[in-house]
Amino acid sequence: NQGASTNIAWHQASVDRAARAEQRGHRSAILWFTGLSGSGKSTLANAVNAALFQRGLATYVLDGDNVRHGLCKDLGFSDADREENIRRIGEVAKLFLDSGVIVLTAFVSPFRADRDKARALVDDGDFIEIHCAADLEVCESRDPKGLYAKARAGQIKEFTGISSPYEAPQAAELKIDTGSQELAESVDLVIKALQERGVIP
Ligand code: PPS
Repeated sequence: NQGASTNIAWHQASVDRAARAEQRGHRSAILWFTGLSGSGKSTLANAVNAALFQRGLATYVLDGDNVRHGLCKDLGFSDADREENIRRIGEVAKLFLDSGVIVLTAFVSPFRADRDKARALVDDGDFIEIHCAADLEVCESRDPKGLYAKARAGQIKEFTGISSPYEAPQAAELKIDTGSQELAESVDLVIKALQERGVIP
């Protein structure tokens, strides 16, 4: 029966997010850490990343070190540049989400509208906002890079918390007191939230 199937095309099943989740044994999600400079966003994001990696999950951290030196190296800290910074990060995070990876973003992301736009790019439940809520006084006393001192001295303009606003989340999925809570406890809170939401087993 030559030719009977000549017009039948084999449609390769597309590798979609659901297929990736099934193979990997976990969903993907965007964990969006936000907070003042020195609030511990990167520290917490990297610690959560390590904990997830140890469980064999696919994860990736996006933060200033790997983004503002490359993808966003043309951007400074004006309101407009921060908006564009967060817009690009939101789009990149969305790609990671589609790739099946749990992506952790650690940016000040001081403006509520910009964070909400990043949230609106993906479905409900895929965006988990984590407010690293350390008081300004704590962040300033830590001053790991000496930037608060420079901002107070007027050597850095538009510094978040000093001369540029930080709009705290009003309804973050998770608010963690990174000013006083132990890192290990903070990591546990995030892991628990991921389990409760069915992202990880
Ligand atoms: S933003 O607002 O989300 O676009 O900022 P982000 O990309 O996270 O970059 C913040 C880090 O850059 C350093 N830095 C400043 N932060 C705030 N305001 C001003 N003007 C500024 N200039 C430099 C600062 O060290 C931030 O690092 P983290 O890791 O947050 O402490």
